[in-house]
Amino acid sequence: MPLGVFDSGIGGLTVVRALRIAFPKRDILYVGDTARVPYGNKSAETVLQYSREIVDFLGKKGAERIVVACNTASALAVEALAPSCMLPLHGMIESGVTAALGAGEGPVGVIGTAATIASGAYPKALAKARPGLRVVARATPLFVPLVEEGWLDGEVTEKVVRHYLEPLQREKIRVLVLACTHYPLLKGVIGRVLGPDVKLVDSSEACAGSLQATESGRLEKGELKIFLTDEPGAFLGRVESFLGKGAVASMERVHLPHS
Ligand code: DGL
Repeated sequence: MPLGVFDSGIGGLTVVRALRIAFPKRDILYVGDTARVPYGNKSAETVLQYSREIVDFLGKKGAERIVVACNTASALAVEALAPSCMLPLHGMIESGVTAALGAGEGPVGVIGTAATIASGAYPKALAKARPGLRVVARATPLFVPLVEEGWLDGEVTEKVVRHYLEPLQREKIRVLVLACTHYPLLKGVIGRVLGPDVKLVDSSEACAGSLQATESGRLEKGELKIFLTDEPGAFLGRVESFLGKGAVASMERVHLPHS
């Protein structure tokens, strides 16, 4: 049975890429909520409602478990949805925290959308796992539009990255959690700005790695089916440039809530 994966838009494809490496034989049903992106500046109530609609949709499509490939939805909705959800729900936070604690010693930085940082989900989970750990969290909201525009490097992007990361550098962080599924696409420039002494934790890879521990590969060749809540526009081209030509078995527009 397929894995259901969703994000507010294109960022969750960093998780899909990691999942396809970890589970090459699994079918994946991906919902990109392109009609309602971004989630990062919305209220918890709104993100919870959107997430519930998508989880219901993926359940009806036959998903066996759901990967919430969006840190904002993971921070704001997973805990509230899990008790009533018939399918196992995997958010990004637990695996990101485990990966951060394994990445090195010293202060940990966390960057994410305004909503993810305001929720305090990462600092709380890090403090619970390692009491006394110094955690510095900062919202870096301009990173999402930079990625959406495909500005993954260059002068402007580097300036924005320096601006946001300077306070974390001053705190001498040793590990930085990229707590937004868009951010792994900026790994190159973030790594260059912070230098080799700061380990970057890619929450997308961490999530796929933790799921891999729960099951082993099976079935034949896995297919990726994409559902978008808005007109696809250039989405297919962007997916193929990221995951490779022919990576997508089908792409379809859907309306949520789905009846
Ligand atoms: N993918 C979202 C996340 O991981 C960021 C984009 C958005 O704001 O919707 O938080």
